[in-house]
Amino acid sequence: MIRTAFTQPINPVTIRTLMSSETAKILDGKALSDRMRQYMQKEIEAMHSRHGRAPGLAVILVGDDPASRVYVKNKKLACEKVGIISFSHELPADTTQQHILGLIGELNRDPRVDGILVQLPVPDHIDSETIIIAIDPGKDVDGFHPYNIGSLTVRIPALRPCTPFGCMKLLEEAGIDLHGQEAVIVGASNMVGRPMALELLLAGATVTVTHRFTRDLKSHIERADIVVAAAGKQGLIQGEWIRKGAIVIDVGIHRLENGKLTGDVDFRAASKRASWITPVPGGVGPMTITMLLHNTIAAFHSHVGEQTVGDEG
Ligand code: GUN
Repeated sequence: MIRTAFTQPINPVTIRTLMSSETAKILDGKALSDRMRQYMQKEIEAMHSRHGRAPGLAVILVGDDPASRVYVKNKKLACEKVGIISFSHELPADTTQQHILGLIGELNRDPRVDGILVQLPVPDHIDSETIIIAIDPGKDVDGFHPYNIGSLTVRIPALRPCTPFGCMKLLEEAGIDLHGQEAVIVGASNMVGRPMALELLLAGATVTVTHRFTRDLKSHIERADIVVAAAGKQGLIQGEWIRKGAIVIDVGIHRLENGKLTGDVDFRAASKRASWITPVPGGVGPMTITMLLHNTIAAFHSHVGEQTVGDEG
């Protein structure tokens, strides 16, 4: 039996197309993000007239890690463009944990604030788990609180972690049915790998999570219908490992010496074998921020006692 990316028997016309196609189709996160954000902008205008206020997102940045500064700036900019009010709290690196917990308590009580985001990583003297647990789960727009992770685990998703949620939107947009697919995730972080496994399981895939102790990464990748690369290691996944027709999602983002961005996957070689692939940049990155906006809007709906209407797709 010839297998497609979907492990179904396929007809000869499809087979010829697959064999002759040298280049994967692009899962275009930039284009989908633009469409979703346009929809959100209109939705927020309507929400403002109904409730007399726009959704609000509080962003806490501790210290001056340059990458975190850029991420936070991009998040605030994205908020402003769609009409979400951002409340910025930039704190020095030596801020005490007690101070941050006090601030989170205030933001939990502030009716103008629908979402709270503490940019990670935080300095070493601060315990990120204690910080995350202090956030009201209904305002946890990162979806990292154990309540929200637990909700996803037991198949009643509430606020969902943004990067995995964005990957699922990309797959959904491309019309990819995940039932019975062999999905292999590379990386088992709390922010991406683990919640990605929960999302794929919820969508009916058979899921393997590989990590730093996995013995033979190549053999796992070679049998995967879907690869999600979230190891944070530039070029870890060789293009030749990708099964013909597989779907490749690259969560990695690394800056090369020439200033260009690249991912965890060797894109050029992988795109000759994959059926679908995300580019870096322009794939998962913009979707992460878009799902943060989505979660902030969802939190607003719940705070004003509205059902979330429609989707932004
Ligand atoms: N640091 C890197 N990615 C993220 C993210 O999605 N959310 C937060 N809070 N911190 C991050």
